[in-house]
Amino acid sequence: MKTFLTLRLPAWGLLVALPMLVSAQSTPSQRVDFGQQEFQARCASCHGRDGKGNGPIADLLRKSPPDLTLLSRGNGGIFPMSRVYDSIVGDDVKAHGSRDMPVWGQVYRLRAGEHYADTYYDPQAYVRIRVLAVVEYINRLQVTSRP
Ligand code: HEC
Repeated sequence: MKTFLTLRLPAWGLLVALPMLVSAQSTPSQRVDFGQQEFQARCASCHGRDGKGNGPIADLLRKSPPDLTLLSRGNGGIFPMSRVYDSIVGDDVKAHGSRDMPVWGQVYRLRAGEHYADTYYDPQAYVRIRVLAVVEYINRLQVTSRP
């Protein structure tokens, strides 16, 4: 009986969450900006709330966090989508690498495990959705005018 219950719960969660997601999308005034939320919660401490690299703990790092609003400008006006994606996921960084930026792919994979506990899930999909939302938000922060 106990296993029956624990297996049923995640399905219930989905039933409750789906209508909430749908209604959040259908009323523009209450739209949830997931990328922005994620950025403010996890990235702003170093990169700053506006992404310009002046977050409250930026001074404590060996390397200053780059200004994320100038990525397109520094790349001939084109947002360097895959470079940004890869540097956030950080899979090419060695486990004890020297970079100051956390390896977010790893963080999100651990979070996925905690979040879904005993349900089937695809950890890669969980990571991709979160990282893509943040990448899309950073894309919106880009300075468009010429210097
Ligand atoms: C602890 C501080 C810190 C946090 C938190 C942090 N970063 Fe960084 N980030 C850095 C530093 C420092 C660099 C420069 C590269 C390096 O040394 O790691 C960097 C580099 C980057 C780059 C590479 C820019 C380029 O030129 O390609 C991107 C993109 C980026 N961060 C996005 C993010 C996102 C998105 C988050 C939140 C999910 C985040 N960062 C959280 C410190 C941080």
